Amino acid sequence: MKITIVMLSSIDGRTTFANDKNIYTWSSAEDQKHFFSLIKKNNLIVMGRKTYEASRPVIKLEKGKLRIVLTRNPKKYLNQTVTGQLEFSDEIPEELIQRLASLGYKKMLLVGGGIINGLFLKHNLVNELYLTIEPRIFGVGKNIAEGQLLNTKMQLISSKKINKIGTLLLKYKII
Ligand SMILES: NC(=O)c1ccc[n+]([C@@H]2O[C@H](COP(=O)([O-])OP(=O)(O)OC[C@H]3O[C@@H](n4cnc5c(N)ncnc54)[C@H](OP(=O)(O)O)[C@@H]3O)[C@@H](O)[C@H]2O)c1
Repeated sequence: MKITIVMLSSIDGRTTFANDKNIYTWSSAEDQKHFFSLIKKNNLIVMGRKTYEASRPVIKLEKGKLRIVLTRNPKKYLNQTVTGQLEFSDEIPEELIQRLASLGYKKMLLVGGGIINGLFLKHNLVNELYLTIEPRIFGVGKNIAEGQLLNTKMQLISSKKINKIGTLLLKYKII
């Protein structure tokens, strides 16, 4: 299974701003275009429960696209489950990948947040990272990966300035 993380960050490495629940208050239109084109291209999207809560208003469920939300309490979300489109799981990353691969999925888009990214990176399960850097400094906030001691080594594959203010779209391969 090819696993790609996609994240947005400030210059100082923050992935959240103040108490904003979602990132659309500070992400550029160009980054949003990039993000939603990846969502369109991927039929398996995995996220943490907090990211799900934050992005729920913009999630459009559709047939043929499976979103998996990782939570330690999947039963709590039974009433929100739409089989094949929105499912809740407490599987560890390796189990989840194995099960989804056996269902025929070949690629996974991991959309955060930091805690879930950390779990996948810890076990070297990720192949690539798309990182957008908005030219802002927040001083406080969350990070791309949280809660795990990591030493992930990466190689820059491409970098692109995607608008006038200098938002950067970076693509890394994870070694
Ligand atoms: N800048 C960006 O690109 C970007 C991307 C994504 C998210 N975000 C932001 O980041 C914030 C959320 O990030 P986060 O790191 O706090 O949270 P997260 O990674 O989205 O989710 C954490 C949750 O995952 C579940 N979890 C943790 N360990 C687990 C395990 N071993 N098995 C199953 N489930 C497990 C737990 O849910 P339960 O508590 O339900 O058990 C935990 O509360 C939001 O504000 C969001 O807007 C930013």
